[in-house]
Amino acid sequence: MASTSAPRTLLLRDLPFAARLTIAVFMVSVGVGYVSALIQLHFQHATPGSLMPTAKNAVDLFHGPIDKPDSKLVTLVLADESLPFKGTGEMSRAFTTKSAGWKKLLEKTPGTEAAVRKERMGERDSLVAWARAGHKKEEYENDEYVLPEALADAPITAKYLKQGGGPRAVKIQSLINDRCAACHKTGGREAEAAEYPLDGYETLSRYLKVETSSAMSLIKLAQTTHVHLLGFSMLYGLTGLILAFSSYPRVLRVVLCPLPLVAQVADISFWWLARLDAPYGPMFATAIIFSGAIVAAGLMLHIVLVLWDLFNRAGKTIVLLLLVAAAAGGYMAKTHIIDPYVAGESKQSGEEPAPAENK
Ligand code: HEC
Repeated sequence: MASTSAPRTLLLRDLPFAARLTIAVFMVSVGVGYVSALIQLHFQHATPGSLMPTAKNAVDLFHGPIDKPDSKLVTLVLADESLPFKGTGEMSRAFTTKSAGWKKLLEKTPGTEAAVRKERMGERDSLVAWARAGHKKEEYENDEYVLPEALADAPITAKYLKQGGGPRAVKIQSLINDRCAACHKTGGREAEAAEYPLDGYETLSRYLKVETSSAMSLIKLAQTTHVHLLGFSMLYGLTGLILAFSSYPRVLRVVLCPLPLVAQVADISFWWLARLDAPYGPMFATAIIFSGAIVAAGLMLHIVLVLWDLFNRAGKTIVLLLLVAAAAGGYMAKTHIIDPYVAGESKQSGEEPAPAENK
């Protein structure tokens, strides 16, 4: 039977207490989850010493370093030691602090670090020279790469220099095996690195190809795209739907409820557009910082506004106390734990906090 009174929209406030409580706990756990996602973002993509990725980090990651037509391998071994030691950071410490027996070596021969580092940089430059000069298979197989003029006098660890007359040459395969494949092979020093074997010419040469852009691989990009679109869409869809039934003005709900979803679609399309040639690619990469911030701000508003709308006076007081406690806790964590930690990161890598402009 049709009722005579005008249909009334369901409001969050009308739900049974158990339902509202569940929604409240859901929102809080989404908030905590989002904070941990931010922590992961810091470790994965921010330059040590800065809290969140900068526009430059975004350009490097999604567009590829500008003006560096180099292979992935060369880019990584020449990258700044202050970057994270990983596929999107740097591999230059493979020659120094991350090389096998580095600590022991320096303990055995104290005071020689500067000299040892010079020899290691000689190794690195030899590898770069070989990579840039066409990285011939036969040089790799014969373990002999004749050094160019520029490296005729460079200090290089004796172990990797070809002995017995002839032009100065480097044992290129031995060098790569010790410095890279020690981790990058099945059963190597680091399980994570074993997924990218560098102990044979075929797999090695994948990283020696010069691509016009050395941004994140297409496979990785496709993977993160579907994880984000499917996973986070569910999340933002739910928080948005819940907010849609709140008692806030219609305008606010119409704008804010779908906002994180819209911003996320824009964000992810920027990931792909960032691969365009300069100047457009880097512009889209820079925009990722902003679209990402809008997603985050939108979700935070969903959480806070819904929590505020769920309960009556007494409940609101509790929510308010919780929000104040979270804000105070967040502030304390930032000044006492996060800031000192982030500052320590840049010291640890022996660098000043990343300058705004890197060469
Ligand atoms: C101490 C162990 C270690 C050493 C030594 C090392 N790497 Fe790595 N490498 C890693 C780890 C760990 C990763 C990150 C894997 C990941 O992102 O999951 C990585 C990632 C890479 C990647 C990116 C793979 C990809 O497709 O994302 C390349 C290329 C690479 N290293 C090259 C080198 C080269 C060249 C050397 C030698 C100069 C070297 N590595 C030495 C541990 C090492």
